[in-house]
Amino acid sequence: MITSPDPHIVYQVENGVFVVQINRPDKKNALTRSMYAALATGINAADENSGIRAILLRGVEGCFTSGNDVNDFVNVSDTSTAERPSVQFMKAISGAHKPIIAAVDGMAIGIGTTMLLHCDLIYASEDAYLQLPFTNLGLCPEAGSSLLLPQIAGHQRASELLLLGERFSAQKAQAYGIVNEVVPAADLIQHAMSKALHLASLPADAVQTSKALIKRNQATPMNDTIKAELLQFSRLLQSPEAQAIFQAFLNKKKA
Ligand code: COA
Repeated sequence: MITSPDPHIVYQVENGVFVVQINRPDKKNALTRSMYAALATGINAADENSGIRAILLRGVEGCFTSGNDVNDFVNVSDTSTAERPSVQFMKAISGAHKPIIAAVDGMAIGIGTTMLLHCDLIYASEDAYLQLPFTNLGLCPEAGSSLLLPQIAGHQRASELLLLGERFSAQKAQAYGIVNEVVPAADLIQHAMSKALHLASLPADAVQTSKALIKRNQATPMNDTIKAELLQFSRLLQSPEAQAIFQAFLNKKKA
C-alpha cells in the first residue's frame, strides 16, 4: 500500500482491513486541506486495491475529530468548489465500493459527524459525542448531510440536529439511527476492528455488490445535494457574520 502524504493521517493494513487514522491530537484532530487530501488518497487507494476488503476510519483516544480546521475557514477568497480537498474527500467516502467502518471516541464535530453518514457501520464509545454546529457558525449543512440525515433520522430529528446545532450523545445518535452500537471506550477499537475483519473474511464480491445495491439510488441525488450545499456553504463562509464567529474562536484561543 501507499504511504500517507500527510503525517497527521496514518495508513495501516491488517488482514485485508485498511485502517485510516486521524492523528493530530494537539489540535483535536482538526482537519486541514492536506489532511482531507490524504484521507481521500487513502480511501481511493484502498478502494482500488483488491487485497483490501474493508476500510476502518478512526481517530485517537478521546478524539475522533473537531471538524474542519477553523483557520481554513478564515479569509477564504477561493470561490471555486470542485477541486477542494474536502470535496475530494466527500467524493471518496460517498463513492467507495468497499465497506467503511467508523470507530468514534470523544468528539465528532461538523464533518466529523457528516462523514459518518456515508459510512456503513458505525461504532461509538460511551464517551463519544456528536455535533453539527453549522448554524452556530453561520454556515449550512455539507457533505450530503441535508439529504442523508433526514433519510436516516427523519425530518424532525434531522432538523433538531442541523438547525439547533447542539451536542448530542452517542446514545442519542444510536437512538436516531446514526450509530450502530455504543460500547465502552476501552473496547471500541477492538470491537470495530473485529467487525471490519469479519467483513474482510466474507466473499468480497458479495459484500461489495450488497453495498452497491443498498446505495443504488443514492449517487445522483447525492451529487446534486453536495453541489447545492457547496454553493450555499461557500456563500455563507464568506459572510461577515460567519467570519466574525471564526475570528472569535481563534482569538479566544490566543488570549
Ligand atoms: N480548528 C482549528 N483548531 C482547533 C479546532 C478546529 N476545528 N478544534 C480545536 N482546535 C485547537 C484549539 O484552537 C486549540 O489550539 P491551541 O492549543 O493552539 O489553543 C487546540 O485545538 C485544543 O482545543 P481546545 O479548544 O483548547 O480544547 P477543548 O477541549 O477546550 O475544546 C472543542 C474542544 C473541539 C470543543 C473546541 O476546540 C471547539 O469548539 N473547536 C471548534 C469546533 C468547530 O467549530 N469545528 C468546525 C466544525 S464545521
